[in-house]
Amino acid sequence: MRSSSVAKLLGAKVDFRVGSALKLPFRNRAFAFVTDRGCFHCLSAEDRPRWVTEAARVLKPGGTLFLRTFSDKAHPEYGPHCFKRRELLDAVKGHFRVLSLKRYPALGSGGPPSEPLWALLAKRR
Ligand SMILES: C[S@@+](CC[C@H](N)C(=O)[O-])C[C@H]1O[C@@H](n2cnc3c(N)ncnc32)[C@H](O)[C@@H]1O
Repeated sequence: MRSSSVAKLLGAKVDFRVGSALKLPFRNRAFAFVTDRGCFHCLSAEDRPRWVTEAARVLKPGGTLFLRTFSDKAHPEYGPHCFKRRELLDAVKGHFRVLSLKRYPALGSGGPPSEPLWALLAKRR
């Protein structure tokens, strides 16, 4: 189901925009919260610093980042990058202070229990 349909169903008023995470169509310090599920790990190593800079740019100082990615315990058959703990911490450390980095399970995979994903919570410096 499309996000816009879910919002309508819930009666939530949401302003959906389409754009690149590498050039967000928002002004500086526009938001208190930024979240990403599954986009960051799809980017090339070359593009990842730009994602971090853009997320930091649109967040207010002290704003919150909630990022979910594949970890090194994941084994996707396709392309997403699987981050090691240190690698993910290093990727965001220039602009963010990490509050927590935890592994979590993929829901509904049907396979044996494992925690192939990272949930990172951080504050913009
Ligand atoms: C694994 S999917 C995750 C989709 C969704 N967030 C979810 O949790 O189901 C990765 C998504 O990132 C999007 N994506 C890749 N590069 C992007 C970029 N530079 N800017 C915005 N979205 C991008 C892809 O189009 C794709 O929809």
